[in-house]
Amino acid sequence: MTTALVLSGCAGSSLDQSGGGGTGGAVKIGLLVPLSGVYAPLGEDMRNGFQLYLDQHGGKLGGRAVEVVSADEGEGPQTGVPAAQKLVTQDQVTAVVGVVNSATALGLRDFFHESKKPLLVANAGADDVTGARKSEYVWRTSFANGKVAAPLGPAVAKEAKGGVYLIAADYAAGREMIAGFRKTFEAAGGKVAGEEYTPFGKTQDFQPFLSAIRGSDAKAVYAFYAGAEAVSFVKQYKQFGLAGSTPLYGTGFLTEGGVLDAQGDAAVGVKTSLHYSAELDTPRNKEFAAAYRKAYDEAPTVYAVQAYDAATVLDKALPGAPGGTGEELVKALGTVGTVDSPRGRWSFDADHDAQQTYYLREVRSSGGTMVNAVVSELG
Ligand code: PHB
Repeated sequence: MTTALVLSGCAGSSLDQSGGGGTGGAVKIGLLVPLSGVYAPLGEDMRNGFQLYLDQHGGKLGGRAVEVVSADEGEGPQTGVPAAQKLVTQDQVTAVVGVVNSATALGLRDFFHESKKPLLVANAGADDVTGARKSEYVWRTSFANGKVAAPLGPAVAKEAKGGVYLIAADYAAGREMIAGFRKTFEAAGGKVAGEEYTPFGKTQDFQPFLSAIRGSDAKAVYAFYAGAEAVSFVKQYKQFGLAGSTPLYGTGFLTEGGVLDAQGDAAVGVKTSLHYSAELDTPRNKEFAAAYRKAYDEAPTVYAVQAYDAATVLDKALPGAPGGTGEELVKALGTVGTVDSPRGRWSFDADHDAQQTYYLREVRSSGGTMVNAVVSELG
């Protein structure tokens, strides 16, 4: 793994402190991802994806050398908001990329809107960030919670042999991932057999919740968990004996990357919706996945791709911001057009969200390694 241009702060930097705003100089980009807490592994993937793009492009974006200033988002807004404020006010970055947690993104929206600094959200799916509270300064290269969850609803309504139990981490993302799924699931005739929200970042033993599922007459389960919680949930689901009898569905974060490695064969058969799989059989993804494996010795993840694509759009937009101002940069972000991403081609919609294809994936063993096989496109 290379850390060439990733610095942990601006101390000792020889670059000017203005964010490198002016033409030709280096440009400072803040990278705000969890370096601690349940989502730390997701943050690591995002750093890797962003760095890979830089390494493939001579350390430059928009023709200018880049200094990446990293900050720890931690487990939510209590840590993430001050860390972002430091990047903008003290380090004076030109833009901030990252943010894993929906609650952090919601906590940051007003700050970026008011300080007129571009925020490129490269994971957190909080619906309002590109919905009711959208801002010309906030752009998203990842997904909206409701939009990544919705495409799976009709598929589960068709497959499930009875009611479906809904379960998720109790915070903005979990609630929205359930709401987005529920809407299309019920519209397609699906029946909800129960609903539960588990304390976010605190639940290690899912046994009481799994007992409640068994006690209901659910014939399938739909779940949102990510990171360390996804590992525990899926492993305990299997240990508890539900995996054989009650098919498990979710958004793809449930079985993504290092999470899937840790789950091992407990995850076989889990079906999810997501806008990426390392298994996507396209020339663009094969080339990307090979480069990622070479650099980091592991398969790429959706988190890596979302950050890689944030670098891609900055590369396209920065030439349109010679003065380095937020106003110029967001105007240029509006003109980047189609991104030829490892996930497939996508572009920003009118709300600054990624308009993209979602895939139905199923965990299968491929020569002893667990993979998210791509079953079909969900639209
Ligand atoms: C979120 O909080 O928006 C979130 C976190 C982790 C994921 C997906 C969404 O994997």
